[in-house]
Amino acid sequence: MRNLKLTALGALACILLAGCAEKDDIERKVDELLSKMTLREKIGQMHQVSGGADLAEAAAKGEIGSILNCVDPDQINAVQRAAVEQSRLGIPVIVGRDVIHGFRTIFPIPLGLAATFDPELVEQGARVAAVEATASGVRWTFSPMLDIARDPRWGRVAEGSGEDPYLDTQMGVAMVRGYQGDDLADASSMAACIKHFVGYGAVEGGRDYNSTMISERSLRNTYFPAFKACVDAGALTLMTSFNEIDGIPSTGNDFLLRDVLRKEWGFDGMVVTDWNSSGEMIAHGFAKDLKQATEQSVNAGVDMDMMSFGFINFIEELVAEGKIKETTIDDAVRNILRLKFRLGLFDNPYVDASKTRAAAYTPESLEAARRSAAESAILLKNDGGVLPLDDVRTILVTGPMADAPYDQLGTWAFDGEPEHTVTPLAALRERYDVIYEPGLAYSRDRNTADLAKVRAAAARAEAVVVFVGEEAILSGEAHSLSVLNLQGAQSELIAEAAKSGKPVVVVVMAGRPLTIERDLANCDAMLYSFHPGTMGGEALADIIEGKISPSGKTPITFLRDAGQAPFYYNHNNSGRPCNGTETLLEDIPMQAGQTSLGCTSYYLDTGYGPLFPFGYGLSYTTFEYSGIALDSTTLSKDGVLGVEFDLTNTGGRDGVEVVQLYTRDLVGSVVRPVRELKRFERVALAAGETKHLRFEIPVADLAFWTRDMKYEVEPGEFQLWVAGDSASGEPHAFTVE
Ligand code: NOJ
Repeated sequence: MRNLKLTALGALACILLAGCAEKDDIERKVDELLSKMTLREKIGQMHQVSGGADLAEAAAKGEIGSILNCVDPDQINAVQRAAVEQSRLGIPVIVGRDVIHGFRTIFPIPLGLAATFDPELVEQGARVAAVEATASGVRWTFSPMLDIARDPRWGRVAEGSGEDPYLDTQMGVAMVRGYQGDDLADASSMAACIKHFVGYGAVEGGRDYNSTMISERSLRNTYFPAFKACVDAGALTLMTSFNEIDGIPSTGNDFLLRDVLRKEWGFDGMVVTDWNSSGEMIAHGFAKDLKQATEQSVNAGVDMDMMSFGFINFIEELVAEGKIKETTIDDAVRNILRLKFRLGLFDNPYVDASKTRAAAYTPESLEAARRSAAESAILLKNDGGVLPLDDVRTILVTGPMADAPYDQLGTWAFDGEPEHTVTPLAALRERYDVIYEPGLAYSRDRNTADLAKVRAAAARAEAVVVFVGEEAILSGEAHSLSVLNLQGAQSELIAEAAKSGKPVVVVVMAGRPLTIERDLANCDAMLYSFHPGTMGGEALADIIEGKISPSGKTPITFLRDAGQAPFYYNHNNSGRPCNGTETLLEDIPMQAGQTSLGCTSYYLDTGYGPLFPFGYGLSYTTFEYSGIALDSTTLSKDGVLGVEFDLTNTGGRDGVEVVQLYTRDLVGSVVRPVRELKRFERVALAAGETKHLRFEIPVADLAFWTRDMKYEVEPGEFQLWVAGDSASGEPHAFTVE
């Protein structure tokens, strides 16, 4: 036994030593190469340009460190050949691309992936994306986007994991692992880029690129955790954000890039700007010209400039004037070269173009995409168990999203090919006798001329399935909205279907949580599918038919009205929280006295609560939590919070429940959120089955940034919930001493 232990220890030591040796070897190579470089060549490495073969000449001169937006393997090889074979030092370029939720095989948008609460599956999806993209020569993706988003007006809510720091962390780390794989130097490994550092999701009013005002404590408690976790997981690169925080644009913020990222977190990867975010500091009114913006960016800790052209044009001058130290440039270039060595680009700079196409759309990739789409669908309503439609033959399929192969791919699907999309219409035709009457041509269509045809067709069907939502262009970067109702005449279409008296199932395919309260009233069942990607049609048909029971949960709060935004479950309490008594507009007597409604925190029109809370989602079966018991209700700061419970499938079908564990710190040196997600797990249960489950959480996980700006657990009273969403369950008390 002892020998066995020693052997195991020896093996571990060897692995660690080998890791260190590899690291030292890379550092040695970086320094050696750096010592040969002229200032001009160093600056070239810091310059990233969008384009393809047209950039070969610049690459041959050593004036480009990276290209983006080229996915043609032949063009990539041409630029690479120029860099490797013609430039003086032969330093390869690194090719970046926004591979956000798949490359060719498109997975659900990241918000949909978050709804799966399935990090393992998300990791698998990111691996698929890496294999497909690297086969084209792309070794760097600008993903994952870790921006916490609590305002669905912001179009980029589609690109992240929603409102919760813990879920965001789990999803972000899963993506980093999937993209980067087990061996960075393997040709199928793609560097991740965690973005946008930081606070971009907090843009005022949900309007893209807008200002933010986030305190350091909020940054640390809410916006940093996923970034820190991804740094710890080995994310190779980081992108600065467009926004300013309290007047300082992120691209010129040395507190963020040097004090926090490098010094506190020990990040040794590479920092890139967002597209022209260095140059945009002029429009912000933070820099007077591109030269000053360059000085600010480099001195703040940016290594590579994406598309502002300031670094390539002004660094030399700034160094000569003593405004940027050459040692600062050396550090930046070290970070860039380290990345290229880590990815093995010096040894294997080229891509084998003969294998590019075969890497795309493999049966395994399509299956992973299908599973992801199935797990991401959220059942919001199912009156009378209308779904699944397992006892009907003839259905009417209607709505502008039923057969929208481009739009169901969602935002940032640059390399997805709509001809590979399986739409719901196509998939349902394989399983039912389908009458198809789209009613509207696209989501914004206001022409109601065809709605009468829908009603007539409904008379011939046993059930109606209405596919509505948003076209891909309505969410994503620069696509914010101030009204979040279904666009065009889609609500009218649903109302028309309801008049038929047939069971009406609504499927929403969108880039954000829309305000669908009025539409819920006009249907029997509603399935919410954030743009589900290539295999969305098959996945949704599997659910509609009952092959799969829905298991997705809302990764973001669903609002009654956009006017409630920002709204998130893990908010702090006001001094006058709503106690459940709300007097709404219609109930207010005329000339009511000023204080007669009570004085608590709610809206007179939409009330206090959301439409659906974070973590919510139904299944075709039902689940019951029982016997929740803590190992101990008094814990020390270095203890472990153990909690056990039974979960029973109380319905008649097999299903999967996403079990969620929340805590609340009742009194803190600063006000603490009313609930915080600490753990979750997908649990599969056969009909009637009970499983005994257990969570163990180190008390250290209850730490936060205190009034003294220390990260620690404060002793005191806590509560814990184990439940199926953020608004359910009973609190269980415990104390930390
Ligand atoms: C701007 C976007 O903000 C960023 O997310 C993206 O990666 C870059 N453009 C590159 O396309």
